[in-house]
Amino acid sequence: MARSKIALIGAGQIGGNLALLAAQRELGDVVLFDVPAAEGAAKGKALDIAQLLPVVGRNVGLAGTSKYEDVAGADVCIITAGIPRKPGMSREDLLGTNVRIISEVAENLKRVCPHAFCIVVSNPLDAMVYTFFKLTGFPKQRVVGMAGVLDSSRFRAFVAMEVGVAVEDVTAFVLGGHGDDMVPLVRCCSVGGIPVTELLPKDRIEAIVDRTRKAGGELVALYKTGSAYYAPAASAIAMAESYLRDKKRVLPCAAYLEGEYGVRGTYFGVPVVIGRSGVERVLELSLSVEEQAAVHKSLESVRRTVAETKV
Ligand SMILES: NC(=O)c1ccc[n+]([C@@H]2O[C@H](COP(=O)([O-])OP(=O)(O)OC[C@H]3O[C@@H](n4cnc5c(N)ncnc54)[C@H](O)[C@@H]3O)[C@@H](O)[C@H]2O)c1
Repeated sequence: MARSKIALIGAGQIGGNLALLAAQRELGDVVLFDVPAAEGAAKGKALDIAQLLPVVGRNVGLAGTSKYEDVAGADVCIITAGIPRKPGMSREDLLGTNVRIISEVAENLKRVCPHAFCIVVSNPLDAMVYTFFKLTGFPKQRVVGMAGVLDSSRFRAFVAMEVGVAVEDVTAFVLGGHGDDMVPLVRCCSVGGIPVTELLPKDRIEAIVDRTRKAGGELVALYKTGSAYYAPAASAIAMAESYLRDKKRVLPCAAYLEGEYGVRGTYFGVPVVIGRSGVERVLELSLSVEEQAAVHKSLESVRRTVAETKV
């Protein structure tokens, strides 16, 4: 069986970590793509990771490039091309620059990777994945945005820290757009099957929800020169792996909705099943009046940002 090919468009902080994780999990051969000015870094990361493979006993090919022809025929494309936030910036402040970059990426991937499963990571996420979807014309099953896996993982990490238990025993998910009004669903958060509301007082849960919403900004303030990259990379790899290995994992992702959750014609964060056909299903659950109001607020923010992309 031929090895899968994974194209990483953007070989910056997240791109480098994606390459490392993809190689360590032996997901397939990895090509790191970046603009000509950053081709050295793309090639360097590929070579550096290739040199750790004997230590960890994994066999995959790695290459760095600035030529789209080298990513041709990729099975999975993960797009992190674009600028990240700096302190004081919102994700929306990245819009003008990143919409130009994503448009260029979309035109090229449409040409060289017409059958790939594409995971968009660049911010502002919901608007970037929408732009990519519109400009490639790829089916909605093959274009998905990464945000919910990361936001849910942050929520789970904070709950585990607070309760003092293992992270893998905390289940939680976050609905909605990848902005500060995302919707961590407290009702669906459990610790070893026990609702979190049984274990933590209301004010502690509220503090965790608030920290989850602002978790990206907390890291921007700490790093000063950019945004989070380890957890975003791990989150996108979980999505790629579910596709390549047909795992059918249930992962919260930005998916193109056509009526689900009462939303139409927009990318929005919802739980989906990812398998060999891409986004195979959107899982729906009925929301309380309060949850619906929070989702609506998040949707309005996403729509405002998407309107500014003018695609
Ligand atoms: N969706 C999420 O949850 C999430 C989380 C964290 C960061 N992000 C976003 O991911 C993006 C990447 O973050 P990062 O930390 O890796 O940034 P980074 O600056 O380290 O890397 C971005 C890379 O994109 C490259 N690039 C720029 N223009 C390009 C083009 N036209 N074609 C190909 N590559 C191009 C740059 O040269 C750079 O190497 C940012 O927009 C950031 O806001 C999203």
